[in-house]
Amino acid sequence: MRSSLVVANWKMHGQKSEVTELLSAIKDGVKRGLARAEKVVICPPSLFLGQVEHELAGTEIAIGAQNAHPQTKGAFTGEVAFAMLKEFSCSFVIIGHSERRELFAETDKFVAEKFLAAQAQDLIPILCVGETQEQRESGLTKSIVLKQLQAVITEAGIEAFSNAVIAYEPIWAIGTGLTATPEQAQEVHATLRSFLAEIDQNIADNITILYGGSVKANNANALFGQADIDGALVGGASLDAEEFLTICAAA
Ligand code: PGA
Repeated sequence: MRSSLVVANWKMHGQKSEVTELLSAIKDGVKRGLARAEKVVICPPSLFLGQVEHELAGTEIAIGAQNAHPQTKGAFTGEVAFAMLKEFSCSFVIIGHSERRELFAETDKFVAEKFLAAQAQDLIPILCVGETQEQRESGLTKSIVLKQLQAVITEAGIEAFSNAVIAYEPIWAIGTGLTATPEQAQEVHATLRSFLAEIDQNIADNITILYGGSVKANNANALFGQADIDGALVGGASLDAEEFLTICAAA
């Protein structure tokens, strides 16, 4: 079902004490009605999932993870499995973030494997797609994001998108303070939705498509005002409770 979601991607940030502080400020804001809890997802580093599960118990704030390995178990030193995420009450998991694709050499095919492995554990994958600055300047934005999306459709089938979220994250806008303009973001969101509509109208109508890339309190409203932008995947600004709650309130 298409819904407005705001997902906090904490990346590799935080200490136990900071996690407690940030979560209590977010919980407090939600309690005061600043954001509807059912549309907020917190994705901490995996090591903090137990703490986050404990501290969010009894709230409607959802928990997500930033990554996992597609195998269910085995000799994969340093990795965690999707089934393990499930044990910590995760309901979402970010898949194919550009930092994973670029810094950890994740291919479209591996991303698709992870997408399937997440769904096999009843986790909702948040599939990230996005182009580099160079690709945008060469007019390749649409072909890049559609190629990334098609790679998952090929492996998982279109039906799999009835229980998935897509996040459009232009790489040049991540952590740079450069946000895509609402019009630039909308154009890509509409492209993604109409691509899906050509295959399955119902899936296209119902899928939640998030924008990510320097979403802040001061640009969230304009982004969320666009027809095909359903919410946000927020990195840097999700580490500041005030800022994050303002974004949530705008969604
Ligand atoms: P940013 O990160 O909000 O810090 O740009 C977004 C993301 O990488 O998901």
